[in-house]
Amino acid sequence: MEWVYIDSLGGHVGKQVVVKGWVYNTRSSGRIKFLVVRDGTGLVQCVINKADSEEASAAFDELTQESSVIVTGTVGEDSRAPGGYEILASGLELVHAAEPYPITPKEHGVAFLMDHRHLWLRSSKQNAILRIRAEVIKAARDYLDGQGFTQVDAPIITPSAAEGTTTLFETDYFGDKAYLSQTGQLYNEASCMAMGRVYCYGPTFRAEKAKTRRHLTEFWMLEPEIAYGTLDMVFDLSEGLTTYVVARVLEKRKRELSTLERDIARLESVVSPFPRITYDEALKLLGEKGHEVAWGDDLGAAEETVLSEAFDRPVFIHRYPAGAKAFYMQPDPENEKLVMCTDMLAPEGIGEIIGGSERIWDIELLKKRIKQHGLPREAFEWYLDLRKYGSVPHAGFGLGIERTVAWICGIRHIREAIPFPRMLHRVYP
Ligand code: 4AD
Ligand code: MG
Repeated sequence: MEWVYIDSLGGHVGKQVVVKGWVYNTRSSGRIKFLVVRDGTGLVQCVINKADSEEASAAFDELTQESSVIVTGTVGEDSRAPGGYEILASGLELVHAAEPYPITPKEHGVAFLMDHRHLWLRSSKQNAILRIRAEVIKAARDYLDGQGFTQVDAPIITPSAAEGTTTLFETDYFGDKAYLSQTGQLYNEASCMAMGRVYCYGPTFRAEKAKTRRHLTEFWMLEPEIAYGTLDMVFDLSEGLTTYVVARVLEKRKRELSTLERDIARLESVVSPFPRITYDEALKLLGEKGHEVAWGDDLGAAEETVLSEAFDRPVFIHRYPAGAKAFYMQPDPENEKLVMCTDMLAPEGIGEIIGGSERIWDIELLKKRIKQHGLPREAFEWYLDLRKYGSVPHAGFGLGIERTVAWICGIRHIREAIPFPRMLHRVYP
């Protein structure tokens, strides 16, 4: 008999199949017993009739929530059943009887659920988020591959800081200092000079002391980099990537979005063009809404929330003051106080999900910036080399996967957008 996954039962109506999974819940009415099994791909109700199988009926009485079971039976259509199919069971094997399961249908506090993250992942909602996350990553990579980009990975252990020295995780590298990578960007800059258009995808680390709903200390980033690229290309590629990813999730993950009770209309409005406003315009808009920001300051979570809620789709804020941004950003030729950068804010209060810029390609200016930012020159010699041998303007950006997933899923806190979140005060499980 064929072992099938629950999401493909539709192809086996009227046939005998085997389903392997875990007990989601049970109930009985007289001689008829109902067992809902989950196998990671969905839920199916199995009907056990004592008259058909004494043995299966006896096994049913031993079941506890999350016990592992193997069910044999015939697939039938039933529009009222979860998933649309049910199994008339002829056999039920208990693989392992679960101890009393800590996560019950009653409400649990977040700390409790986070301590049991290794089990919490089994719930329908977390399952839906993980599937959407996988789709987001696949879609994003498909998009860039389709645009002619080559994936070139960046190292995780690095000798240099790229996104400020205050959020570095330091590690001992055989007696020398090394850091967990904050971004793959600097290496992308080397590989785009070799390959033209590249992207890296991997985990990145920031020792963020902030306890917010959008900061992790370990998060995943997808970072494209384009030799001869410009800020306009960053806008276009970010917009193309975001609309593609959202459309793919709408197409392939309808069921999961509905499990999450996501308002689909909010995602359907994510189409080109996205508004593009300057930092100065953003400050004006914020002022009108009662949020005064001093010129030169970076925009914080509160400001980003106000701005992102003003639009029904992502919005680009561009040309920030140089002092608010990273050392490597190219000055605006029309105003040297500004840099050629953009943050893309997702709607519904999520805030920045993409940060990108043109990079400094003049070696003297770059040396000056490294010094101004108090960065150790030795660690950047290789990076300066890129400006010695056929230097060209170039640009790129980074898309934060967890914030993107949180936005698309409509979940408030980023901690549920990654299987095992790492945050201030959390490295377990
Ligand atoms: O704006 P950031 O710091 O940009 C960079 O790291 C660039 N070097 C990327 C590049 O140009 N190649 O980070 C990019 C994105 C943010 O927009 C956000 O989505 C995410 O990474 N991010 C975080 N996500 C979760 N937790 C954190 N602590 C994050 N910090 C940044
Ligand atoms: Mg940023």
